[in-house]
Amino acid sequence: MSNPLFILAIASAALAVILIHARGAAHRLPPGPRGDVIGLLGKTSPLELFEQWREKYGPVISFSLFKRVVVLNDAQATSALLDKRGDIFSSRPRLVVAHEILSGGMRGISMPYGARWRTWRKIQAAGMSASAALMYREHQTLESTVVLGELLADATRLDTALRLFATVVMLSVSYGRRVRNLDDAMVAGNRQAGDEFQRASAPGKYLVEIFPFLLYLPRPLQWFRPALERIRARDTRTYLTFYRAAKEREDPKPCLATYARSEEGAGMTEVEVAYAISAPFGAGIDTTVSTMQWALVCAVLHPDVAQMLQTELDTVIGRSRLPTFADEPALPYFKAFIKEVMRFRPVVPLAVPHATTADSAYAGYDIPAGTTVYGNIEALMKDPKIFPDPETFRPERFLGHDDFALPFGFGRRVCPGMHIGLQSVFIVVARILWAFALSPASGAEPRLDAYVSLGLTRGPAPFAVSLRARDGDVARILEEEGAEAERRLGEWEYEINGAA
Ligand code: HEM
Repeated sequence: MSNPLFILAIASAALAVILIHARGAAHRLPPGPRGDVIGLLGKTSPLELFEQWREKYGPVISFSLFKRVVVLNDAQATSALLDKRGDIFSSRPRLVVAHEILSGGMRGISMPYGARWRTWRKIQAAGMSASAALMYREHQTLESTVVLGELLADATRLDTALRLFATVVMLSVSYGRRVRNLDDAMVAGNRQAGDEFQRASAPGKYLVEIFPFLLYLPRPLQWFRPALERIRARDTRTYLTFYRAAKEREDPKPCLATYARSEEGAGMTEVEVAYAISAPFGAGIDTTVSTMQWALVCAVLHPDVAQMLQTELDTVIGRSRLPTFADEPALPYFKAFIKEVMRFRPVVPLAVPHATTADSAYAGYDIPAGTTVYGNIEALMKDPKIFPDPETFRPERFLGHDDFALPFGFGRRVCPGMHIGLQSVFIVVARILWAFALSPASGAEPRLDAYVSLGLTRGPAPFAVSLRARDGDVARILEEEGAEAERRLGEWEYEINGAA
């Protein structure tokens, strides 16, 4: 980077800080820390810091980190603002590099609120609504049989088997195609593009993120741009290859590619559609895997609960066949268990940040346009006013409560993949608990207080469990159903020409 540019950038940095404070002074902002937030965030995770600030400043806090940020820590505030004022609170914070330059503004999850996002969301709704999700049940059921077969052969493969399952399901949702392993070109291509997006979103990585006026420099002087545009050209080729392969199938399985075709020309270009249908890969794998993992960790560490779950499964299903989706309505304790897992250890604890598109006010405070707004899911899940004794794992609290969408975020941005995600969690976890007795394995015992962070998602730290078939019939049933599943899954397999 040349010197004059650097001096210009530093001068503007100072100006930006002064302007934020000047604007802040004109507003009555929610309380919060006013000092060096960057330094703190370098040392403590946002989740822990928000918790400390919630205790100190109350349910609605604000601070500035190049932009104005508001954190909503209680259900009254999230409902009043993120849910009920969706016309103002449904945008996303601007991501100059990852969204605008690297993705050409085509990734829905980071799209600002507006007509383009609505068209993108229409595709997600068409292919992932509660009724559309039913179309994927057959595939999810067959793949879950494969998971059980893997686990029977080698329980140490639990992590890989769950990840392969979630990946295979997401790719079949997008492209109606089954992949057999994580080395498949479709996995590699989607992963590479997603990783570049993650890398480019890392705070502080690019100066232009803090000083977007650098975009007004003549293009040849925008030193950050060429490398990003080369990556974008490669990602675009990758996504187009996969979308075209799915479109060209004569008898395609239901998937986003088939639902989205009608949008091509009617509001979206082919490239935009190709980006839109790639969304499940980035948003639906870590979330689903982490939820399934927490469910198993909670079952292992609460043997009384595991016992109740297995008794219910045996009573409803018996021991001569695997659980299916048709059994779900008859399994109230199991359904309550999954809700409690998602409350106790929410996998997207701060949701995805929203942003405001107009000035507004709440509880006597101003929330200016352009504010980044976090709905603190973790704080809501641990609020004793909503969930008494919140640190106790108690599925019974959800018996008789069917609606529980809080783990999936807020308002107009609520997770569009929730029905598919819940189906995956149900069929895999119910079948594992039906088939196996679970116990902690020595070495890497499951823990409730050890986490791994995967971007916005948080799962349990790597753990090992021992899985023992609950009776002699399990192996026989899995052998029969496994062979049949493999045969039928062939219907989802097809070659991709030109894959990188
Ligand atoms: C199973 C566990 C899952 C959980 C807990 C979860 C949670 C969330 C949350 C909290 C958000 C942010 C909502 C907000 O901004 O307020 C979100 C967004 C999103 N999720 Fe999920 N999710 C899950 C699975 C999935 C699956 C399986 C898919 C795809 C099939 C998916 C696709 C998406 C997309 C595309 C968005 C962005 C929506 C937008 O910006 O308009 N998610 N999810």
